[in-house]
Amino acid sequence: MPVDIVVGGQAGDEGKGKITAYLAAKNGYDYSIRVGGPNAGHTIFYKDRIYTLKTMPGGFVSRRTKLVLGAGTYIITGWLEKEIALTGAGDRLIIDPHAVIIEPRHTAAERGDARMMGKIGSVGTGLGAAVRDRVDRKKLRFAKDEPRLKKYVKDVPELLNKALAKGSRMLLEGTQGMKLSNLHGEYPYVTSRDTTASTFMGEAGLGPKYAGEVYAVFKPYVTRVGPGFVAREMTDRNKLDRYHTAGREVGSVSGRLRRVGEFELDVALRTVRINSVTRLAITHMDMLDGADFGRGVRSFTGEAKRFMGTLARICAVYPYPKVSLISYGPGLEEVLELA
Ligand code: IMP
Ligand code: MG
Repeated sequence: MPVDIVVGGQAGDEGKGKITAYLAAKNGYDYSIRVGGPNAGHTIFYKDRIYTLKTMPGGFVSRRTKLVLGAGTYIITGWLEKEIALTGAGDRLIIDPHAVIIEPRHTAAERGDARMMGKIGSVGTGLGAAVRDRVDRKKLRFAKDEPRLKKYVKDVPELLNKALAKGSRMLLEGTQGMKLSNLHGEYPYVTSRDTTASTFMGEAGLGPKYAGEVYAVFKPYVTRVGPGFVAREMTDRNKLDRYHTAGREVGSVSGRLRRVGEFELDVALRTVRINSVTRLAITHMDMLDGADFGRGVRSFTGEAKRFMGTLARICAVYPYPKVSLISYGPGLEEVLELA
């Protein structure tokens, strides 16, 4: 089926941006689609540059790929314009008329809400406030109402479905992860939207029949920038330092140091079921002791071997995903392809 989907299996920041860019560079999809808000920063190391994208789809690295923002996208216009300049991909960008503009009043409302910023640990972009206005059917600005975005606006569901009829292939990049889903996550320590594959399809204007491979992205450990549950949270300063430096575990939008905990098998199994995951993509494998990727040779001993055993348990759960990609560094070439 023509639409591959990338979802997060933990608390966001699993490396969806990198996996999306890797798949786009490899498969050269016709369309790379993103939904969700700018609270999600997807970081891509590409050709000696670091791209922290809050809105532009990670598939920009494939020059033949058109970039699409669906109706379930929430846009801070100035931020998007900066990313258009950074990626130089404005001529390939298409925005759904019903993507919502996050206005300064939304951002101010969220940042001024002590409960949202404190108890929930919101990133403070205003996404939640804009979602609330949409649910309340209040007056909102959509992409179609924004003169600066007008040239990108097209009927996305019509365009994508016509393209599907002609055999186009698409990559759909979601945001956040299982633990942060407003529907299936650890409420109230969640974001303002659902973060699972079927919702991403709906937010793009795609029906369920076209879902292809569903990639769930995991790290061998869990990080969380906000409050909420983290299994066996790491408290050792020296160990944490290594994650924050070598592992780059610092919030890409929030700048906060990420909390670190152990891999949560129960969450991973839920991710597989709820998203009908067919492929596992593991990032940050180089943070484990015993993972050796030197000169094309790979060997897993100690911690890394134990983690591969954990992955085998995930693969035993319906619909029996395969371990597909293992990333061991930030660069797009630092990926081991297994299936
Ligand atoms: P909000 O969605 O910005 O209101 O944040 C709600 C919770 O989700 C907070 O704990 C945030 O830190 C977390 N969160 C939201 N977006 C992301 C993300 O992209 N990565 C990691 N955590 C996120
Ligand atoms: Mg992130």
